[in-house]
Amino acid sequence: MQQNDFIIRPLQQNDKEQMQKFFDDMGEESASFFNVNHGNEKRTMEFFINGKKDHLFWVLQATENNQPVIAGLVFIWGKDTSVVWLGIAIRDSFQGKHLGQELLSFVFDYCKEHDHGGILLSTAATNHRAQKLYERCGFEKIGKSPTEELLYIKRFPRGEQ
Ligand SMILES: CC(C)(COP(=O)(O)OP(=O)(O)OC[C@H]1O[C@@H](n2cnc3c(N)ncnc32)[C@H](O)[C@@H]1OP(=O)(O)O)[C@@H](O)C(=O)NCCC(=O)NCCS
Repeated sequence: MQQNDFIIRPLQQNDKEQMQKFFDDMGEESASFFNVNHGNEKRTMEFFINGKKDHLFWVLQATENNQPVIAGLVFIWGKDTSVVWLGIAIRDSFQGKHLGQELLSFVFDYCKEHDHGGILLSTAATNHRAQKLYERCGFEKIGKSPTEELLYIKRFPRGEQ
């Protein structure tokens, strides 16, 4: 999918260096929401080791200072189950441009095409930016996880186009 100067495409084996840079460049606040204990970094970098077969990863490819850059990452976990888990992050310098919405919209299309029933995710109660994005994109708040994170679901009723 092409969107102005951005392309959303599957993560590829030759993205290893750029992907590591995406995590290395992540600011403290973003990392505190998306990369606690380097969890999502380890998860993503495992793709380059073993393919991380129960996940699907897509990146938002853009340019910055005339250099190619990974401006966003989205993944689903449990790709062969009805309801998948989702993680998303936008590079700090690209935040606030509604690119998160572009990535989510791409994943919604994928999930509908592949007959998934919904998407689950959790987010910190203090992550107001993420909550705004999820609610704007039709996620419904359904409670709290055991770690006091907010739980959200996006449902795809059967037959919805
Ligand atoms: C959360 C995230 C994915 C949102 O993506 P984005 O492309 O920056 O989102 P948007 O540009 O659509 O902004 C989301 C909304 O939050 C608003 N917003 C921006 N900064 C905000 C702030 N500090 N407090 C509250 N709302 C804020 C924006 O104005 C926008 O609202 P709008 O729809 O009324 O314009 C992105 O900011 C990010 O990667 N953050 C760090 C990692 C992270 O938190 N990941 C999610 C973990 S659950």
